[in-house]
Amino acid sequence: MATVVCLDNFDSYYDPQVKRKNIETFMDNPNFELVEGNILDKQLLYDLFEDVDYVFHNAAQAGVRISVDNPSKSHSANATGTLNILETAVKAGVKKVINASSSSVYGKVSYLPFDENHPNLPVSPYGASKLIAEHYCRVFNELHDLDTISLRYFTVFGPRMRPDLAINIFTKKALNNETIEIFGDGSKTRDFTFIDNVVDANIRAMKNGIGEYNIGGGERISIRELAEKIVSITDSESEIIYSDSMKGDAEHTWSDVSKASRDLGYSPKIGLEEGLKRYVQWYIDFVNQ
Ligand SMILES: NC(=O)c1ccc[n+]([C@@H]2O[C@H](COP(=O)([O-])OP(=O)(O)OC[C@H]3O[C@@H](n4cnc5c(N)ncnc54)[C@H](O)[C@@H]3O)[C@@H](O)[C@H]2O)c1
Repeated sequence: MATVVCLDNFDSYYDPQVKRKNIETFMDNPNFELVEGNILDKQLLYDLFEDVDYVFHNAAQAGVRISVDNPSKSHSANATGTLNILETAVKAGVKKVINASSSSVYGKVSYLPFDENHPNLPVSPYGASKLIAEHYCRVFNELHDLDTISLRYFTVFGPRMRPDLAINIFTKKALNNETIEIFGDGSKTRDFTFIDNVVDANIRAMKNGIGEYNIGGGERISIRELAEKIVSITDSESEIIYSDSMKGDAEHTWSDVSKASRDLGYSPKIGLEEGLKRYVQWYIDFVNQ
C-alpha cells in the first residue's frame, strides 16, 4: 500500500477553496497527508523527500494568459520550482521524478500531429518555462542517479479540473443557458485528454520510460465544435459568440501518442465524447451541491 504526501501552497491563481474541496475526500484517509508549503522552499522539500520513492511533480503556475501578464511568476514556479525539486530529489535519494509537462512546449506548428521530435518553439512564457523544466529533468537524469520522465499533457479535463479552462467555462455557461464566448473565430483546434487517461499514464511512468512523452487524447477538435458538443450534451439553449483571440494561445495541438504507447503501454481509453458526458455529470453532482 502506498502512502501519498500532497504538497501544495494553495496559490490564489484560482479560489483555494476549490482546491480544498477537491481533496476533501482524501483527508480522512490514513495513507494521505497534506502539507501546505512551497516548492521554492528547498529545506521543506528535503524534509519531505527523505522517505519518498517517487515524486509526481505537478505544482506549477499553470495557464498561458497569466504567463503573458506575469512571466516571472510562471518562471519562478515552473522553472526554478522544478530545479528545486530535482536538486532535492538527488540529495534525498528519490528513485524517480515524474514531471508534468505540457503540449505548450511545441508552440509553433511545423506538422501535425506532434510527435516528440517536433521542434520546440513555445509561443508563451508558460510554454517556455515548461520547456526549461523538461531540460532540467533531462540534464539531471544524465548527470545524476535520478530517473526522470516528462509527460507532455494535452489540455487535461474531467472532474476537479482547473476552473479557468474552456471545458469548465463552457459547461457552466451551457448548464445556465448563458452566452458562450469563444476567443477568436473558433477554428483553433485542441487535443483534449480525460483525467483518467492522465492518471493511468502517471502510474505507468513510475516504472517505465525516461525522457519526454506525449500524453494526449490522440484526436483534435475545433473550439467551435467543442462548444457545440457541450451545448448539445447539456441540452442547452446557450448562444455561441466570438471575440478577439488571446495572446499566447497556440493555434493547434494534436498528439501522436505512439511513443507512450510503445514504451509505457499508454492508450487514451476514454475519448472526448465519453469524457465530456462524465464531466457534465460530475459538474451537476459536485459543483452544484
Ligand atoms: N490542466 C491542463 O490542461 C494541463 C496541460 C498541460 C500541463 N499541465 C500541467 O499539469 C500540472 C497540473 O496542472 P493543473 O491544470 O492541475 O493546475 P492547477 O493550478 O490546478 O494545479 C497546480 C497546483 O500547484 C500549486 N502550486 C503553484 N505554485 C506552487 C508552489 N510554488 N509551491 C507549491 N504548490 C504550488 C497550486 O496551488 C495548484 O494547486 C501543472 O504542472 C501544469 O503545468 C496541465
